[in-house]
Amino acid sequence: MALARWRAAASVMALAAIVIGQAAAAGNKTGQVTVFWGRNKDEGTLREACDSDLYTMVIISFLDVYGHGRYHLDLSGHPLAGIGDDIKHCQYKGIPVSLSVGGFGSGYSLPSKKAALDLFDHLWNAYFGGNKPGVSRPFGDAWLDGVDLFLERGTAADRYDVLALELAKHNIRGGPGKPLHLTATPRCGFPPAGYLKRAVDTGIFERVHVRIYDDPDCEAYWHREWDEWVAAYPATRFYVGMTASEMTHGWVHPKNVYYDVAPSVQKADNYGGFMIWDRYYDKLTNYTSIVKYYA
Ligand SMILES: *[C@@H]1O[C@H](CO)[C@@H](O)[C@H](O)[C@H]1NC(C)=O
Ligand SMILES: *[C@@H]1O[C@H](CO)[C@@H](O)[C@H](O)[C@H]1NC(C)=O
Repeated sequence: MALARWRAAASVMALAAIVIGQAAAAGNKTGQVTVFWGRNKDEGTLREACDSDLYTMVIISFLDVYGHGRYHLDLSGHPLAGIGDDIKHCQYKGIPVSLSVGGFGSGYSLPSKKAALDLFDHLWNAYFGGNKPGVSRPFGDAWLDGVDLFLERGTAADRYDVLALELAKHNIRGGPGKPLHLTATPRCGFPPAGYLKRAVDTGIFERVHVRIYDDPDCEAYWHREWDEWVAAYPATRFYVGMTASEMTHGWVHPKNVYYDVAPSVQKADNYGGFMIWDRYYDKLTNYTSIVKYYA
């Protein structure tokens, strides 16, 4: 296993990276690593992910059905009991916890302004500060920190721009409310599909995680695509999305994260950090424990 061999040299390398990092990449490293959680029940609890001290943000995935009056949360068999407490535990440690909508299924779309406002209403009352009677709260009174758009499908009719603007109105900095981190996690291709572009063009997205794996074009051309993303949205922070699974196409050897990915993405002054897909693979391979020093 390539990664296993790499691990022998990893701790020396990590130290070197810190030293070189301070000298050469002055100021552009952030140390930020976001991970997706919720795609495999064998990945351990959310609390365990936060207690690993590997991540600075966790995104729960996915709310995979919406748009037609029905909503469904798919956490791959993780029991809901305890997740609310785990969210609070993560937040107490300073690790925000977000919810991603979309995913690889076919149960979602947002084909009208009303569908978008209904989804906002559901999100707000089920996961954030709302308390509408009759809306069940899967995580109890835990109040999440953000919403992520992970859209593998969509049509020109989809109104994620309406959803984004409504969420932004509830991004309450100061007072009794809370900041709401609005993020998106697209494949690398630029420009993105129209339904996502219309949303990101609002200019209100705090972060975009650009996935450079699991897509032949992204594996080959992501440098060029990345440069277009970061130039197009200067007010947004960009995270480079990498897979922790050596079995997934587009996996980047830690050595190449160090010599290629990190220096390439950190040229942008709106570079944000790394995104790792996902906690399950990361727990198996310890990928983040190596690459986090380069973030
Ligand atoms: C850091 O970012 C600036 C732009 O803000 C860029 O000019 C510089 O090359 C970057 N440094 C490195 C080491 O990538
Ligand atoms: C990952 O780290 C854990 C805990 O330190 C360890 O038990 C496991 O063997 C490591 N796995 C690999 C593939 O290095």
